[in-house]
Amino acid sequence: STIENGSFEWSAPSNIALVKYWGKKDNQIPANPSVSFTLNNCKTITKLAFEKKESKDAFSFDLLFEGKPKEDFKPKIRKFLERIEEYLPFLKDYHFTIDTHNTFPHSSGIASSASGMAALAMNFMSLEKKLNPEMTDDYFYQKASFLARLGSGSACRSVKGNVVVWGNQANIEGSSDLFGVEFPYAIHENFHNYQDTILLVDKGEKQVSSTVGHDLMHNHPYAYSRFAQAHENLDKLIAIFESGNVEEFIKVVESEALTLHAMMMTSMPYYILMKPNTLQIINAIWKFRDETKTPVCFTLDAGANVHVLYPENVKEKVLQFIKNELVGFCQNGQYICDEIGDGAIAL
Ligand code: PMV
Repeated sequence: STIENGSFEWSAPSNIALVKYWGKKDNQIPANPSVSFTLNNCKTITKLAFEKKESKDAFSFDLLFEGKPKEDFKPKIRKFLERIEEYLPFLKDYHFTIDTHNTFPHSSGIASSASGMAALAMNFMSLEKKLNPEMTDDYFYQKASFLARLGSGSACRSVKGNVVVWGNQANIEGSSDLFGVEFPYAIHENFHNYQDTILLVDKGEKQVSSTVGHDLMHNHPYAYSRFAQAHENLDKLIAIFESGNVEEFIKVVESEALTLHAMMMTSMPYYILMKPNTLQIINAIWKFRDETKTPVCFTLDAGANVHVLYPENVKEKVLQFIKNELVGFCQNGQYICDEIGDGAIAL
């Protein structure tokens, strides 16, 4: 190729799953379909500088995190490069400098793998597009999501769209195990600008990496019914997004969060990833919802932090409730206000 050097820069957001991805087959193929809201404020921003090199027999890259060399992330990136090389045959032609930072606190317990792998995938696609300028936008984004999946499964849902489905689902046209797609049907205005306030309960290192976590679903006693349930819950959400029924939305979303944790509690080995304050928060949300009829609910990732989800029209009321009653359960009183966003952006 004729491109000698240059650079690109992309931001990519985190996402929060409503139907959870938990369990995978070889090559990052999900055991069940999942759907997520794309976030807006929690992002990774990554600059990729590239320069043609002489020898083409090995990967060559430097990694900077928040401006400083970061050796301990390099094996993860190297593994990602190995996985995507067959789809991006030019990777060994260049030396790369990957310069990355997050908009959310470093050790917040917020997974940066989705936003981080998505941001990196976007940059590599920009280089591929530079080498093959004729590609369409659809191809660009689909392949970016495909590559991001090979970095971290959930990263394929951080590329494009407000609501993203990943995994084959009979009733969702175009859905695929290989990449995320924008939810292809109408979404009721009740779900536009949905809010996600992330309560930081425990900022410690992840007790269970997601790689180990997904493996726990192999030979799990409830795997079969769990995977079937994910399909059912995704079907329910299709109808809920159309009707705007927030009450039904709450039931599906909270049940998904608790089921994810139930899977971890019933695997071998078993884990409890909630903390006492996680339960305090859940109970306080239930009480507030009962007493005030405010349509607010929670979801959880594979950790102790709580995502508080609610429509935009109750934002003030819920933020007041969070400040009055939930902040005390957060580590150092920390929480992050986020909302639905659109996906990755070229900077
Ligand atoms: O993308 P991974 O392998 O880190 O898995 C993420 C799994 C959950 O965050 C717990 C659920 C999900 O669908 O995002």
